[in-house]
Amino acid sequence: MKTAIYTSYGSPEVIQIVDQEKPLPKPNEVLVRIKASSATRADTMMRAGIPKFGRLFLGSFKPKNTSLGTGFSGVIESVGTEVTQFKLGDEIFGEKLFSNGTNAEFLCIAEDSIIAFKPNNLSHQEAAPVCDGFLTSYNFLKDIVNIQQGQHILINGASGSLGTAAVQIAKLMGATVTSVCSTKNIELVKTLGADFVIDYKNDDFTKNTNTYDVIYDSVGKTNYSKSKNALKPSGVFITPVLSLNTLWYSMSNPKRVKFAATGLKKTEELKRLFLELVDFFKQKKLNTVIDKTYNLSEIIEAHHYLETGRKVGNIVIVNQ
Ligand SMILES: NC(=O)c1ccc[n+]([C@@H]2O[C@H](COP(=O)([O-])OP(=O)(O)OC[C@H]3O[C@@H](n4cnc5c(N)ncnc54)[C@H](OP(=O)(O)O)[C@@H]3O)[C@@H](O)[C@H]2O)c1
Repeated sequence: MKTAIYTSYGSPEVIQIVDQEKPLPKPNEVLVRIKASSATRADTMMRAGIPKFGRLFLGSFKPKNTSLGTGFSGVIESVGTEVTQFKLGDEIFGEKLFSNGTNAEFLCIAEDSIIAFKPNNLSHQEAAPVCDGFLTSYNFLKDIVNIQQGQHILINGASGSLGTAAVQIAKLMGATVTSVCSTKNIELVKTLGADFVIDYKNDDFTKNTNTYDVIYDSVGKTNYSKSKNALKPSGVFITPVLSLNTLWYSMSNPKRVKFAATGLKKTEELKRLFLELVDFFKQKKLNTVIDKTYNLSEIIEAHHYLETGRKVGNIVIVNQ
């Protein structure tokens, strides 16, 4: 089978498409023929080994895990002898963290991991990126700050993968949503449900005072020090992007500033959030925003585009 790997840190050109043996499922695993997979900002950071302190976990001199991609959607091609919930031909989606990548033609994954039946109203391309933006933002909005009906949340970077998900989730949870994006994405974020939009090219939300219960900086373009005046006295600043400012304040003022690496959460807890999201998708309450799709053979190009920091929503890798 074809699979994308990288054996050293560096630019997108370190990625190679290689032929590997098709994996065989263990007794508790299913073998999935992958139809679509995600390519994310987190993938590009792992591939580049940047920020460098991340290499303490990823491998000091070269990556320990050489495969790419976590989100996927596909069709079960065979099942292990102990699998009870899934069968040949089932369409499933989810994510595989920390081991064999999903930017490949096949994948073996344990039946109790973060997988579920793909809703019929979702294409493989729409399903594959759900565990990036939606699962991360749902973890922040539900488990980390537990947004309440009527609270006012500002989402900075509302046009990214995490941002487009967060706008929709915050609306579902009953919040008033102010989205921050550039001029070209204003209409998009309005269609996702934003009540107010701030065009960061013309306005600076940090000049607002005492306005927001939560500021979710989904792209790491501001920080607590710059935006604290815009928070209400009991307001919370949350971000999935670690900076020195966030590190300092999340330790010195943990009620006010919160960072989390969602992938490090316990699998059972991630699965609970994932299954709740699956229900929302079944009820057509959420929509995946897709910017571009690439064939697996074009994954280097996909990584170059991801690194522009300009994508709108998600990038999807498809297998022909
Ligand atoms: N901690 C975790 O668990 C976790 C999990 C997943 C991802 N992440 C991280 O989350 C971050 C966000 O990823 P993403 O995929 O959603 O988005 P992204 O690709 O990092 O950002 C793309 C979007 O950001 C907008 N943008 C650029 N500059 C901006 C600014 N100054 N103000 C507001 N918006 C701006 C761009 O729109 P314009 O070009 O129109 O401005 C574009 O639509 C990444 O750093 C990723 O590594 C963390």
